[in-house]
Amino acid sequence: MKSTKENIFLTIKSLFAIAIIALLTVSCADKASDDYKSITYFNMDANDELVRPTGYRSWVYVGTPVTPNDLNDGKAPFPEMHNVYIDPQSFDHYKKTGKFREGAILVKELVSIGSKTAVSGNGYFAGEFIGLEASVKSKEHFPDEPGNWAIFSFTNPEEGTLKQTAGALPTNMCNACHQANAQDDFVFTQYYPVLRAAKNIGMDVSPEDNAKRMTAAK
Ligand code: HEC
Repeated sequence: MKSTKENIFLTIKSLFAIAIIALLTVSCADKASDDYKSITYFNMDANDELVRPTGYRSWVYVGTPVTPNDLNDGKAPFPEMHNVYIDPQSFDHYKKTGKFREGAILVKELVSIGSKTAVSGNGYFAGEFIGLEASVKSKEHFPDEPGNWAIFSFTNPEEGTLKQTAGALPTNMCNACHQANAQDDFVFTQYYPVLRAAKNIGMDVSPEDNAKRMTAAK
């Protein structure tokens, strides 16, 4: 039989162990909730303008909607092709939780139509980069925007170069249409199969590795 002294010693030892486990758990939880701050892909300057995102062609590419001028009476609101990218941290978060995280940024790069014919057939083929837009979800920076999404444009057709910074565009100009028509939290995932396939699938899964396709290519 153990002495009372030994028993007290053992109790103190297990209390210590519990305290250490509790401390570790708390610090891990803190880390998880602060994740977006340590790995963020956008910067706001001192005037609350979004600094032009860079490096985004190495993020995760989600799709290319095309709204050419010649299908829009010569004046498409967003001319031509839109290459859309999401920052990799937010893509992982979307895979894990099916949600756009605090700090998510999507970039839409506008590309002109270069040619309407190729050896593969007639169609629309990408020409040159002509514009850049972005949407950012942040409660911290945009507490009053619907869904905490703010939308920006760096396109500067007069000078032919992109603006260095851009202020959030008025909610009615951009955000309202996204709110009313986008499939998932202001993002038009109905046009982005890459995001639909990734939603909630789990961090360690690559949906493109699955051989299953909706229909066979003809
Ligand atoms: C009339 C509706 C409408 C308005 C107004 C609108 N958008 Fe969009 N936006 C869309 C649609 C539809 C898509 C996806 C398909 C596409 O790009 O054509 C989209 C996609 C985007 C994306 C890519 C990320 C996403 O949410 O899918 C960005 C960035 C964007 N728009 C920026 C803007 C900016 C900047 C404005 C304001 C100048 C704006 N939008 C106004 C309909 C709209």
